[in-house]
Amino acid sequence: MKLEEAKEVLKQHGQEQLLRFYGELGEKEQEELLAQIESLDFSLLKNLSKKDHAEERGKLEPLAAVEIAEIEEKREEFKSVGLDAIRAGKVGAVLLAGGQGTRLGLDRPKGVLNVGLTKELYLFECLIRNLMDVTKEAGVSVPLYVMTSEKNHEDTVGFFKEHTYFGYPPEDVLFFKQQMAPSVDYEGKIYLEEKGKISLSPNGNGGWFSSMAGSGVLEDVKKRGVEWLNVFAVDNVLQRIADPCFIGATIKSGCASGAKVVSKAEPQERVGVLCLEDGKPSIVEYYEMTDEMIHSCTDKGELSYRFGVILNYLFRVDKLEEIMNRYMPVHIVEKKIPYLDEAGNPVKPEEPNGYKFETLVLDMIHELDDCLPYEVVREREFAPIKNRTGVDSLESARELMRKNGIEL
Ligand code: UTP
Repeated sequence: MKLEEAKEVLKQHGQEQLLRFYGELGEKEQEELLAQIESLDFSLLKNLSKKDHAEERGKLEPLAAVEIAEIEEKREEFKSVGLDAIRAGKVGAVLLAGGQGTRLGLDRPKGVLNVGLTKELYLFECLIRNLMDVTKEAGVSVPLYVMTSEKNHEDTVGFFKEHTYFGYPPEDVLFFKQQMAPSVDYEGKIYLEEKGKISLSPNGNGGWFSSMAGSGVLEDVKKRGVEWLNVFAVDNVLQRIADPCFIGATIKSGCASGAKVVSKAEPQERVGVLCLEDGKPSIVEYYEMTDEMIHSCTDKGELSYRFGVILNYLFRVDKLEEIMNRYMPVHIVEKKIPYLDEAGNPVKPEEPNGYKFETLVLDMIHELDDCLPYEVVREREFAPIKNRTGVDSLESARELMRKNGIEL
């Protein structure tokens, strides 16, 4: 793209500030900046006008889960179906590690966080150990696909290598990068990160499957004959990965997907709830629920909308391919975004200062015909590390790890 063309495009979109320091750049940097401008998806900015209006929802109804008591009764049966699928090489795991963990305030990939107290115990290491509990029992390895972003790819790959993949077979760990989207200030102006570099952030965890396809990693999935992918977040240190019982229950249910859920701790708990929307599975956010929905109870006196998702899903690969190119809602997320001020000084904000654009994996569930909610014991499988202290923090996760007998 030539400078004149870039000026024209930016004018159309009210983004002329991106060329503010153009004159100060060397020839190569100028070219790079113009290339970045050319690749920007300005249509994302339109979503800002929808920011204050929640999406119209369809007809919402409760969706029953396979609950802990039933799972215990059928554990052996579910487990054997799951282990068979794992042993037949039909299961892969996808670690979503492209996020920036801004709430935790770590400048490196979240997985390098040391959760140990008397020894080194990294988040990535904990996840690998959890997965190895299963691979040891099954007697086979499970391919692990790790999603990174432009911002943390080298660091993540380097960390795994440095720690010899925490004992996992290196040939079964494949990395792929997710896509990026521009970050904007509260007026919708795209930030510069450097004089010749637009501020880009990972575009949410919803694009994981299309990024697998785009990066070529999906070919590996096909080559290995993987039929199910277990997608999970980097920050739930207690979660079970490629859990045979969960896999078996989902396969037996005939559903195209499964979601691990926990019973809400209280009606108002701030979690997304798995339900039906116009007859299809869907996740409704806590702020989208009416008071009536929040407090509605079944005949047994339990909450009707009781099951919160914990970002651990199982998807059938062929179904994912069918929905891969469908539109996904873009969420506007308020975040702390490092930027260059008008004078050209770098600023690292202490408070949120703008928005990022993200698609979310939970929206994929609604594109599928069915989903099995699978209840797990919260204290055993849900210890997310989002913040330094308080709720869902390093502190609370350590507490739960200790309760589960993990030495720190
Ligand atoms: P979060 O929604 O907690 O976002 O991600 P985050 O970026 O890690 O943290 P904050 O909000 O900035 O503090 C949930 C999961 O989705 C992954 C994260 O790595 C985490 O496993 N994720 C998130 C991606 O892989 N890519 C993204 O663009 C965003």
